[in-house]
Amino acid sequence: MKKITLIKGDGIGPEVTACAKKVLDLLVDDLIWTEVSAGLETLEKYGELIPKAVFDSIEETRLVLKGPLTTPIGEGFRSINVMLRKKYDLFCNMRPALTIPGVVSRYEAIDLVIFRENTEDLYAGIESRTDEDTRHSIKVITRKGSTRIIKAAFEYALAHNRHKVTLVHKANIMKETDGLFLQVGREIAKAYPDIVFEGIIVDNMCMQLVMNPHQFDVIVTMNLYGDILSDLCAGLVGGLGVVSSANIGDNFALFEPVHGSAPDIAGKNIANPIAMLLSGAMLLEYIGYYNEGKALRTAIQEVLKDPSNHTTDLGGKCKTDAFTDAVCKAIAIGG
Ligand code: NAI
Ligand code: MG
Repeated sequence: MKKITLIKGDGIGPEVTACAKKVLDLLVDDLIWTEVSAGLETLEKYGELIPKAVFDSIEETRLVLKGPLTTPIGEGFRSINVMLRKKYDLFCNMRPALTIPGVVSRYEAIDLVIFRENTEDLYAGIESRTDEDTRHSIKVITRKGSTRIIKAAFEYALAHNRHKVTLVHKANIMKETDGLFLQVGREIAKAYPDIVFEGIIVDNMCMQLVMNPHQFDVIVTMNLYGDILSDLCAGLVGGLGVVSSANIGDNFALFEPVHGSAPDIAGKNIANPIAMLLSGAMLLEYIGYYNEGKALRTAIQEVLKDPSNHTTDLGGKCKTDAFTDAVCKAIAIGG
């Protein structure tokens, strides 16, 4: 028996989380879900952004599957995503960008993993108004925060036979903050002599990723660059509809797609649920259900062999619920 908190989210969140719950229940028969609501729609309906029940459930289960949450732009409340990552110290944001057979993209055989520091940097939310026309945002980088994410990247590389860790920074300009991150990286790299280590400046990294993504393997970086680079890497493998992520700390873990609430397509039954499903696969693997995680990945690949199962973002016409049914059928056949 495994208890999971399910945050349905805003926009396409309820559609894609419903799909993931259905599929995970088919794969594992003793999952106990607590479904909770948070976010913009919860605020509008119940006057609360995050009801206490959400925290209570997370503190009980310590395991979360989460749909995307809308954050107002340029005004309004602070991001709940950032708040949850900080509150539960989910310092390690792991975002694989992996080519899925059947998904057409500009590149073949991409297999990158981004390790993004998830609690510091400009996302610490230390912003102020000196006066109406002058605003400050403080970038926070610590040795502790840098050490744990860079170690996580190297440990992952070691455990998965990866040959290279690339650290992305802008230490030529931000000599103190990014300088510390790079310095910690160089120190940690010495303990992993069999893994190639390189530092690269973030703007060059963007160009290199588009020109020749195959030169990279494991990527480790700070919060903001990691956020931007993970959408860039999503673009290498077919878009935001297919990339998943894990947010892992010492005591809690939260799995969610890389994409946001996609208000432009919400409520139309056309969202691609693959990103959410793969986040579910990562969750299953995290709690030790390796065969079930693999069965889910295989089922998605099987279903994608038929282009009539491709959702709009992948160039097809398949609806979210029809894709979900096709995955359930493939799982049932796969046994
Ligand atoms: P977005 O990821 O929601 O959408 C970007 C584009 O990708 C849109 O054209 C959208 O239709 C498409 N897209 C995203 N997911 C898709 C899917 N599963 N299937 C098909 N197409 C998909 O990013 P955007 O528009 O910048 O942000 C919208 C809202 O989401 C904002 O309020 C933002 O704060 C929030 N957000 C939340 C995140 C989270 O909860 N972890 C992460 C990123 C954004
Ligand atoms: Mg993002």
